[in-house]
Amino acid sequence: MSVKTTISVIKADIGSLAGHHRVHPDTILAASRVLAEAKRNGIIKSFYVTNAGDDLQLIMTHHRGVDNQEVHSVAWNAFKEATKVAKELGLYAAGQDLLSDAFSGNVRGMGPGVAEMEIVERPSEPIVIFMADKTEPGAFNLPLFRIFADPFNTAGLVIDPRLHNGFTFEVLDVYEGRAVELNAPDEMYDILALIGTPGRYVIRRVYRRPDREIGAVVSIERLSLIAGRYVGKDDPVMIVRAQSGFPAVGEVLEPFSFPHLVAGWMRGSHHGPLMPVGLRDSKVSRFDGPPRVVALGFQVKNGELIGPADLFDDPAFDESRRVAQQIADYLRRHGPFMPHRLGPEEMEYTTLPEVMKKLSSRFVQAEMGYKPVVKRSEELSGEHD
Ligand code: 13P
Ligand code: 13P
Ligand code: MG
Ligand code: MG
Repeated sequence: MSVKTTISVIKADIGSLAGHHRVHPDTILAASRVLAEAKRNGIIKSFYVTNAGDDLQLIMTHHRGVDNQEVHSVAWNAFKEATKVAKELGLYAAGQDLLSDAFSGNVRGMGPGVAEMEIVERPSEPIVIFMADKTEPGAFNLPLFRIFADPFNTAGLVIDPRLHNGFTFEVLDVYEGRAVELNAPDEMYDILALIGTPGRYVIRRVYRRPDREIGAVVSIERLSLIAGRYVGKDDPVMIVRAQSGFPAVGEVLEPFSFPHLVAGWMRGSHHGPLMPVGLRDSKVSRFDGPPRVVALGFQVKNGELIGPADLFDDPAFDESRRVAQQIADYLRRHGPFMPHRLGPEEMEYTTLPEVMKKLSSRFVQAEMGYKPVVKRSEELSGEHD
């Protein structure tokens, strides 16, 4: 049997410089030391530590499979060490995403975001790792659909026989903790009916149909759903395999040329355009944003990461960035109004219950000429016919 390689991307906001602007280099160093030691001890094979805005990103390869206790423990220790430095430097929201003190073998459900895939390496194995700040896992729904199901994005779906049979999407309902597999192209309208609600339905994995080879995996942790309160946005990561039977790297990047609207800007409570940027621009300042995404390309060979290539650091994406700026200007002029501000059920900060409590005695019955019939949310979701 061929040796399998696991790619693990585990990230957390453990505190940042100048509010939620960017990760401090000393915390990157602290995390790198822990990973270097894990490499010496043979727990991981190679690693790359970086940041997406204020999120510390650990990219690791190893032969231990997904959800491995030792690898997760290395990641947890790296975050703990980095948090110590963050506290010493008084960085903002030190330890923000570490929701628990008691590590019990797996970082999932403890705050960090996790995307992992185990593969048998092809002779040449190009992967792209996407890391976003000031948004949520559902932000990857639109680009993933376009990469693996839209022939106007991915030419290979039409002209490459190895892609022509389509892909399977595993869609997760993050409110109910259940998942459904749907096939493209035949079920693409059903896929879109779900994933167009990205706060609830999140594409978690994509498989190539004929052989179920994994093509993509997304971190699905939503911090507020874990903690039951606002602790920071869920700034997601995603791994995508490219070329030779998967979409080409250019097809994988192409959807990001359209800066679509995502949730998570300012206080996790506003919509903004997702701006594709190179690593040096992976920091957020305007109204704590706008939301950003970085794409690093690697080759994986014999369990080692070769690279990275900073894929959005390209003038070909300048126009997308300019459009994102224009959208940002336009949205900002809405101030506290929806749809710039998120709807009440998705806002991470709200004063609404207090305002309603204060005003409750002042609300009076009003004559409207009709008795309103309001659909409850469960009727709208089509679950209780
Ligand atoms: P592969 O057939 O190796 O995936 O190459 C396609 C390509 O890179 C065209 O842009
Ligand atoms: P992060 O989730 O990236 O920490 O941002 C939080 C925030 O509220 C920014 O305005
Ligand atoms: Mg932060
Ligand atoms: Mg962040």
